[in-house]
Parts: sequence; C-alpha cells; structure tokens
Amino acid sequence: MDLKTFLVFTAVLLHTTLGFPIQENYGNSTTTTEPTQVTIQEDIYESHPPTETDYEEEVIFNRILKVNKDSSQLLQEGDIVPQRSRSAINCRNRHCNWPQSSDGIVRVPYVLDPTYEENHIKVIQDAMAEFETLTCINFVKRRTERDYLSIKSADGCWSNYGKVGGGQTVSVMKGGCMWKGIIQHELDHALGFLHEHSRSDRDKYVKIMWEYISLADRADFRKFENSNNLGLPYDYSSVMHYGPHTFTNTTGKATIVPIPDESVHIGQRQGLSNLDVAKINKLYNCSRCSTILDTASGSLKSANHPRNYSDNTNCVWLIRTRSRKISLHFQAFDLQTTRGCQGDYVKVYDGASKSSAVLMDKTCGSKIPNDIVASSNLMLIEFVTDGVDTASGFQATFTSGRSEKKENVRERKTIYIKSTCVLPSSLHVI
Ligand SMILES: *[C@@H]1O[C@H](CO)[C@@H](O)[C@H](O)[C@H]1NC(C)=O
Ligand SMILES: *[C@@H]1O[C@H](CO)[C@@H](O)[C@H](O)[C@H]1NC(C)=O
Ligand SMILES: *[C@@H]1O[C@H](CO)[C@@H](O)[C@H](O)[C@H]1NC(C)=O
Ligand SMILES: *[C@@H]1O[C@H](CO)[C@@H](O)[C@H](O)[C@H]1NC(C)=O
Ligand SMILES: [Zn+2]
Repeated sequence: MDLKTFLVFTAVLLHTTLGFPIQENYGNSTTTTEPTQVTIQEDIYESHPPTETDYEEEVIFNRILKVNKDSSQLLQEGDIVPQRSRSAINCRNRHCNWPQSSDGIVRVPYVLDPTYEENHIKVIQDAMAEFETLTCINFVKRRTERDYLSIKSADGCWSNYGKVGGGQTVSVMKGGCMWKGIIQHELDHALGFLHEHSRSDRDKYVKIMWEYISLADRADFRKFENSNNLGLPYDYSSVMHYGPHTFTNTTGKATIVPIPDESVHIGQRQGLSNLDVAKINKLYNCSRCSTILDTASGSLKSANHPRNYSDNTNCVWLIRTRSRKISLHFQAFDLQTTRGCQGDYVKVYDGASKSSAVLMDKTCGSKIPNDIVASSNLMLIEFVTDGVDTASGFQATFTSGRSEKKENVRERKTIYIKSTCVLPSSLHVI
C-alpha cells in the first residue's frame, strides 16, 4: 500500500482517538489505537473531516471525559455535580423527581443559554425530542416555574443528579458537548439517573479492574447499595454506561469488563437505549408504547400480527440507524378503513418526533403502501387504533444505506425489550 493509502487508512482507525485509547472491534480481533499518532490524524482532517458516523463510533462517556478533562468544575464520576446531601443516592427518598401533571406528562422546564446559535439549539432540541417521543418527559420552555434546567455552555459536559430545586445548570459546552448522545446523558442525570455501572447489582454483570484505576479515580467506580434499579435489568448499552477503558491508568487495559462474556459491547454510541427509555417510564409512572430500532436493518409489526391488533393502542417505533437514508418497506398491511383514516392508522415521519415532516400521512385500509425513504438516519412510525374494529395490522422491514466501511464488521450486541402496548389508565377495560 502506498503512503497516501496508508495515511488515509490510519486516519480511519484514528478518527475516534482524541486522547483516550479506544478499542476497535473488527469481528473477533481487537486493535487498540493509541493517541500518539494524533498529528497524522489532524493533518488528514484538513482534507477529510470526520463525518457524524465516525463520531458515533465512540462511546459517549469517553467524549464527555475528554471535554471535562479541562473543566474547573468539581465533578464526581466524571460529569456529576457533587451535592451536599448526596449520601443516599436514591431518588425515592430525595424528592428529586420532576412532578407529573394530571395528564400524565412530566414537564421539565428549561431555559437555553442566549449565546447558543441556531445549530446548537437544533442539536439540543433533537436530543429532547427523543425523550418526548419515547417517554412522558416533555422538555418545555420555562415560563415562571420555580424549578428548571438552565442549559448553558459552561465548562464541560455535566449535570446535577435529579431535580435539585431552583434553576439548575446542565452544562452543554458549545465546543465539545453538542452531540445528541452527550446531551441525552446529561439530561438523564437531571431526570434522576446515575451511571449504570454504579447500580447495586453491578458486580453480577461487570468486573471492575481496580488494578488499572488510580487511587484518585476509585471513587468514580463506587457502587450505590441503595440504587433504585426499578426492577429492570442491567443495561450494557445504556447511554449512562461508561466505556470499557474509562479512567484506565494503563493504555489498552479495560477498567470495566462484562461478565461472564467479556466480548459484550459496553457503552453507548448513539443515544438512549430501549432500557433507558423503560427506566424513565417506570420511574415516572408513564405508560408509553415505544421501541427504538437501532440496527442497520430489521423489521417491525403491529402487536399480535398476523392476528388482529387490539383497540385503543398508541405505539411508536423510532428507527435510528448509524447511516443515512432509512427505507421502509411494508410487507403486509390491513387496518380498519375509516373516512380520512380517523380511526386506526399508520403515520410515518421524517425524523424523531411527531412534529417532524410527514413522509406518509394517516393511512388505513388494505392496500400495501409504497416504500418510504427518510432523508436522514431517523424515521418515526406511529400506529394508533381507536375503540372499534380491528384487523390483522401491518408488518414492515427497514434497511439503511451502508456507511462504507464498518457497518458489516461491527456487530453490536443490543438488548431489546419487546414493546408492550399499555392502554391509557382511563381505558383499562378489555
Ligand atoms: C474468537 O475468539 C475466541 C477467544 O479468543 C475464540 O475462542 C474463538 O474461536 C474466536 N472466534 C472466531 C470466529 O474467530
Ligand atoms: C494504576 O493504578 C494502580 C492502582 O492504584 C497502581 O497500583 C498502578 O501502579 C497504576 N499504574 C500506573 C501505570 O500508574
Ligand atoms: C409513581 O407511583 C408510585 C405509586 O403509585 C408513587 O409512589 C410515586 O411517587 C409515583 N412517582 C411519580 C414520579 O409520580
Ligand atoms: C379480525 O379482523 C377482521 C378484519 O380484518 C375481522 O373481520 C374479524 O372479525 C376480526 N377478528 C376478530 C376476532 O376480532
Ligand atoms: Zn454521567
């Protein structure tokens, strides 16, 4: 291979290494790249700026730590603002949940740093939109509420844990934190969530490699015996999970090793996981039927299909792939026919929220819809049924454009939980 090819290839390997060693998994073999070659990387960036997809190869928490390395804010576990009465780290006892309105929605007021520009605001609102689509958390502009989030470009990416009262800062620095997964991580702290590896039951799922953790960093791996685990499983792919090498003092040595299967992928690259969503909904007593589909291709279907779906359901599927141009193909379609599809319907959006552009308006009947292509790596499918008549519903497959190199060789292990459609509480008559 000539020098140019070699440099480009090296750059590909190095896209994600801006200070921490990152493990790149190519099938079964593991290459650990070190940050010593950063100069080459910067030269290459001049002509080949990294794409969004390249950034997504990196564990969210590693990016947070890189930015916070230079922060003067006192932080625990890398990005949590220490609090005075933080002994019992359990929101059940601390009234640190945001209040739920009588309509079931948890409205979290926020104000944005006036220095943010339009593109910053868009990234933040896109991160918030996924919470709104998948959970009953709605981030709303503050009017006069006493307790609110003040989202600022302060010194790093950090947040308080839970609601602390008054205006509380969530720092989303313009330079390094403007990325959906990071913003979701910090917002999730503010909603009352800790890092996944600090759960009381973590020793059953991960081994902490104390020998590679300097004394000064050991507190970042402490376990909270009283954590509220919500009766939901440990989640290796939580947006709140550290990466395998977080806080290592020895290049190439992991500090967190999954057990019993060391090869399980830990840490998130894209944003909220299905279990993150389930945990938010459980903590906030929220009945939402929502599923994230984050593999390069896959399928979805209405509940019970090909048997009939239930009345009074409202489910969404958020397809969030790593490469652009999701395309959706219906294989089966049979919904109650009503005028204007006001009864049961499927609707598809070009983005993560119901305020995104509509790709397919309310559709019912038994004609199979045409294929649908999203303009980005996000597509939302909504399926609503009314109180009368059912039919066999739908089944669809999706694929996304390949991102040249890595898509095929990096199989990610993702834990899915089946979407269970919960009826609104006023409709608990079957
Ligand atoms: C992957 O690595 C493991 C452990 O090194 C080995 O036992 C296994 O055979 C390898 N699998 C493949 C497909 O190479
Ligand atoms: C890493 O931390 C461990 C435990 O504190 C210590 O024994 C070891 O010497 C450290 N290694 C390096 C390379 O600093
Ligand atoms: C959820 O419901 C339980 C019991 O029904 C209650 O104790 C708890 O405070 C509720 N949580 C929220 C956030 O409303
Ligand atoms: C299932 O849906 C079909 C319409 O597609 C309807 O004719 C049939 O009665 C439904 N069956 C049940 C058990 O509801
Ligand atoms: Zn954190």
